[in-house]
Amino acid sequence: MSSSLGLKSLLGTESLTANQIQTILDTAFYFQKLQEEKKPLPQSMKNRTVILLFFEASTRTRSSFELAAKRLGGDTLVLTKEMSSTEKGETLYDTAKTIQAMAPDVLVLRHPSAGSPNFLDQILKIPVVNAGDGFHEHPTQALLDLMTIKESRGDVRGLKVLIVGDIAHSRVARSNIYALKTMGAEVSVCGPPTLLPPQADRLGVKVFYDFEKAVKEQDVVMMLRIQIERMNRGQLPSRGEYARFYGMSSRILKLCKPEVIVMHPGPVNRGVEISPEVADGSRSLILNQVSNGVVMRMALLHLLTGGEPKVPS
Ligand code: CP
Repeated sequence: MSSSLGLKSLLGTESLTANQIQTILDTAFYFQKLQEEKKPLPQSMKNRTVILLFFEASTRTRSSFELAAKRLGGDTLVLTKEMSSTEKGETLYDTAKTIQAMAPDVLVLRHPSAGSPNFLDQILKIPVVNAGDGFHEHPTQALLDLMTIKESRGDVRGLKVLIVGDIAHSRVARSNIYALKTMGAEVSVCGPPTLLPPQADRLGVKVFYDFEKAVKEQDVVMMLRIQIERMNRGQLPSRGEYARFYGMSSRILKLCKPEVIVMHPGPVNRGVEISPEVADGSRSLILNQVSNGVVMRMALLHLLTGGEPKVPS
């Protein structure tokens, strides 16, 4: 099955064209407008079931997919690693084939192994949506981030966007770099050398190690979650030292353009990668990102199950 996007599944942003991204954004803004005006939403998921197979923890992605499917009239079924027969040794292949035998319409997968959504896409007939696979990609996060930037700044083309933190291990960074560049943004990354991928410039981004220098000309500063578990492996100094050199604080915000927007995919380590004052302050779009996650996932479910592209009226 190929959707109106010309895609069976959403596995990443790397191979999405600007036209496909624009169609997804337009459809998400259409759903946002209907919600804001309290108009009825198309019930395009009626009599359809979305399976949410989450083998890693999630608050935002899982709950927003569930709300998105339900608001469009669909059913959902959540299966976590702990609740499934994976605990008894069943393989991902057998779990996926078993689920498919119950005739769902979409499978959303979060999994610690990079490439697992691509593997399921090859063996299943239904659309597979990557909800985050290892260090690889988190495409729905990047698309809702694009939507949030576009909503705030009108367009993405020509904007300077800085992504800060653990770039090497971040699926959010990777998906955002691909999508932002496709839509014409100028992307830079910044972090300690131990957390930047070797030859990061091959991703087509500018590389900074000095955060104070990097923030000055940026239109958007996107902070990443620091994976505290890595601190024990010597890849990071202490939390305090990380916060001092790479944390977004009121002091750093004063070095930025006055109209800068600050983003974070969540969950946030307050006081480490971002201070509470900035996270809750007027330049932060963190909760807008969460709200846009619901309409973005509505748009993706709608489009991947054969719904027509929409534009806000
Ligand atoms: N941003 C994000 O993926 O958050 P969750 O892990 O809570 O889904």
